[in-house]
Amino acid sequence: MKRQGVGEVMISEAELQKRIGELAKEIDADYKDKHPIMISVLKGAFYFVADLTRAISTPVNIDFLAISQMPGVSRDTGIVRISKDLDLSIAERHVIMVEDIIDTGLTLAYILQNLAPRRPKSLNVCVLLDNPARRLVELPIKYTGFHIPDRYVVGYGLDYKEEYRHLPYIAAFEKDE
Ligand code: IMP
Repeated sequence: MKRQGVGEVMISEAELQKRIGELAKEIDADYKDKHPIMISVLKGAFYFVADLTRAISTPVNIDFLAISQMPGVSRDTGIVRISKDLDLSIAERHVIMVEDIIDTGLTLAYILQNLAPRRPKSLNVCVLLDNPARRLVELPIKYTGFHIPDRYVVGYGLDYKEEYRHLPYIAAFEKDE
């Protein structure tokens, strides 16, 4: 049996901040004068959206969605319940979805399907970590922080059973097996 716990640091605090600075420059160039709304899904992306929006010079609005699993519905369906909806209207607005990590892509696909009928002017995705090995659905990802190997990771907002979110870096995590 493997010992459960935080393993090696995969992305340091300095690497995270450097890459976020680069993403911010790209977003500034693409969204100049477009006054986008950046939407993030609680709770995993909260440090990322906080650092990214502060690195961007373009004025932005910020809003949050929270989702929870539907009782009795398997995770593999990607069907989730929106437990906190947006406060802002996204009709005719340029929207950037900010996600912590995309694995299968099912969660984000479901959220995008929910947002599209609200008629945003544009809808793009900015993800900090992309784990393409597990992808089940294709998603229009415009900005990617890092591609990571297929390992469970914690830190910088990401949790294992609500622990380790506060770590300032991304680390591998070994689950009990
Ligand atoms: P997906 O629907 O499979 O793409 O899963 C996406 C969600 O699962 C993410 O937004 C995270 O909340 C969670 N998740 C997926 N992989 C990890 C991981 O390695 N560490 C922590 N959370 C993860």
